[in-house]
Amino acid sequence: MKEKINQILENAKEEIPACQDLDKLEDLRIKFTGKKSKLHSLLSKIGELPAERRPEIGKALNITKNKINKLLSDKKEELEKISQRKSAQESKIDITMTGRQISLGAKHPLYQIWEEIEDIFIRLGFEIAEGPDIETEYYNFDALNTPEDHPARNLQDTFYLKNGNLLRTQTSPVQIRVMENHSPPIRIISPGRCYRNDKVDASHSPVFHQVEALVVDEDITFPDLKGTLDSFVKRLFGPKIRSRFRPHFFPFTEPSAEMDILCVNCNGKGCKLCKNSGWLEMGGAGMVDPAVFKNVGYDPEKYTGFAFGLGIDRITMLKYGISDMRLLFQNDLRILKQFS
Ligand code: DAH
Repeated sequence: MKEKINQILENAKEEIPACQDLDKLEDLRIKFTGKKSKLHSLLSKIGELPAERRPEIGKALNITKNKINKLLSDKKEELEKISQRKSAQESKIDITMTGRQISLGAKHPLYQIWEEIEDIFIRLGFEIAEGPDIETEYYNFDALNTPEDHPARNLQDTFYLKNGNLLRTQTSPVQIRVMENHSPPIRIISPGRCYRNDKVDASHSPVFHQVEALVVDEDITFPDLKGTLDSFVKRLFGPKIRSRFRPHFFPFTEPSAEMDILCVNCNGKGCKLCKNSGWLEMGGAGMVDPAVFKNVGYDPEKYTGFAFGLGIDRITMLKYGISDMRLLFQNDLRILKQFS
């Protein structure tokens, strides 16, 4: 009997480790430990043995059964690992590879300032208006009282598209679209992308960003314009910032002005940033020209209004001390990561 038991173990030791496939291993499990296995039939015959031999044979059978089970479970583990590795290879996923750290994105500095500008004006009671990047000559120039021979209409300055369309050179056409669709009182800002046929350098880009503002009501005056802009720059750059207005010309405002703020770098003493003038140009402004009101069907005797347009790129550069505009458009992660 003992010999038979030994023989079973020997067979198992030979066949189980040689097995290469999980299905065949299952067959071997049934063969060596199943109900119809030799081991099982020996176990069931223990009762027929003389009583004094039963413990010894019983023990030998149990040990053998445990050894065979161990052989089976070791082999099963080995084959399962191989099969996992194979399927991972087939799906080209290396489950043994360590994970990669996921880096979180951040808002682009330009967009951070864009939102800050929106917040300031919303708190001042303005609403946000939007207009298309692709405009018609009418909205970008004619309705804004810009004469046929104005230099801005030149091919060198404006990207013209087919069918008389163009890429807007300013956010001012949004003024017209808003007035065409609403009656006064109006108080909107419109941040957005603009396009000009400029060569790229440290302070020019063919794509840039402006924020337009338009306020129309009865009795709107130039001091309202000054007060609004001054309050805006103080909220943006701090309460010590002073602003000034210089006379200028824009076709769609009369009178027109350009606004400067005291240099944020040198506080007016004169430095490289302000080209020793102590002041930084912020953008154009003025009282809406009656001719523009006529174009949208407003009564210029009844309504007055102011408008202005500021460069968001320039404001971003001043706020963050960025000296080269190209850095805003190259999307170099080394730069962008500093703003997260
Ligand atoms: N659109 C002008 C520009 O791009 C800026 C501007 C000036 C906007 C005066 C205005 C304004 O609304 O009143 O240079």
